Amino acid sequence: MSTTTENIHIERIEHSKIDQVDFKNLAFGSVFTDHMLVCDYKNGAWETPKIIPYQPISLEPSAKIFHYGQSIFEGMKAYKDKDDEVWLFRPLDNHKRLNISAKRMAIPELPEEYFMEGLKALLDLDREWIPKKEGSSMYIRPFIFASGKGFHASPADEYKFVICLAPSGSYFSGKVKVLIEEKYSRSADGGVGFAKAGGNYAGQFYPTQLAVEKGYNQVIWTDDHNHEYIEEAGAMNIFIRIDDTLLTGPTSDRILDGITRKSILQIAEEEGIPTEVRKITVQEVVEAAKKGTLKEMFGAGTAAVVSPISTFGYRGIDYDLPEVETSYASRLKKRITDIQFNRGNDPFGWRLKV
Ligand code: PLP
Ligand code: COI
Repeated sequence: MSTTTENIHIERIEHSKIDQVDFKNLAFGSVFTDHMLVCDYKNGAWETPKIIPYQPISLEPSAKIFHYGQSIFEGMKAYKDKDDEVWLFRPLDNHKRLNISAKRMAIPELPEEYFMEGLKALLDLDREWIPKKEGSSMYIRPFIFASGKGFHASPADEYKFVICLAPSGSYFSGKVKVLIEEKYSRSADGGVGFAKAGGNYAGQFYPTQLAVEKGYNQVIWTDDHNHEYIEEAGAMNIFIRIDDTLLTGPTSDRILDGITRKSILQIAEEEGIPTEVRKITVQEVVEAAKKGTLKEMFGAGTAAVVSPISTFGYRGIDYDLPEVETSYASRLKKRITDIQFNRGNDPFGWRLKV
């Protein structure tokens, strides 16, 4: 199979929609650029990707995505600096994780060249769309789904890899109020929690709706055994500061190996912040909140960046987090976004110019 992408065919849109977009008031992931990348898997091989105008995708009703949910995705961002240069953040890690998810969902793995060269060509074509406003960036959504048809409950024989671009503002507006979940589970040992599989998110919507009805923004998932340990949020890994130590749970079958999470851990270590990667019990967090040693909780993810948590709810009681001067959250958010937006040094070599 040839994996050269020199010949990515580009079909340009006739009239750009860019003038219709209010770049000053961008929501998250709700407007899309002029073009998209598509790449089909047929006859046992990925075909050369092509770039076409952003448009609906036509599928057979028997396409396996509709019935058996073979679908995975990634979340990335492109950042524009003050000189209009465009940067990606650890994109090869997203490609690696896409293939980890693919393997678990019996989807054929995608060659790195198709992912990287396709992404760069698409971003280059729609680079005018990358917002420059503080707090905004281009959210990138690469995904693969089963387009092959048939009701037989087995992996499809055809797939589509697509990348869409969405100029976006922040994911959360303001601080986040979370509910520690004790009834429902997001994932289980031996399951697919570590994969970015579409169904992981579908399964979270109902419990999250119940939490939203009670006034929370997001559920904090606990382990499926006894709901004893803090795991992660719907679209974020979780960090907790008790006294001056920054804690986060270890990755496992049940938890997504977040790129923001591992970057924050490295930055924190470099900054001399004491960190511990270990199982965190709900009880120790509740005790720390009661004693006043719980200083901060925040979520971390590509979409959410670093999102401070203002309150957590547990067994009918709300625990408010204190206002901390020079919080770890703001310090770490500044460091990571300075790297992403090319405002500061990148000692780790994470930035890639497009
Ligand atoms: N956990 C879940 C379930 C997610 O969906 C995400 C978002 O991608 C994260 C954690 C954070 O991962 P990353 O930092 O790679 O975006
Ligand atoms: C991301 O942070 O990129 C995600 O994938 C979160 C998404 C579910 C909105």
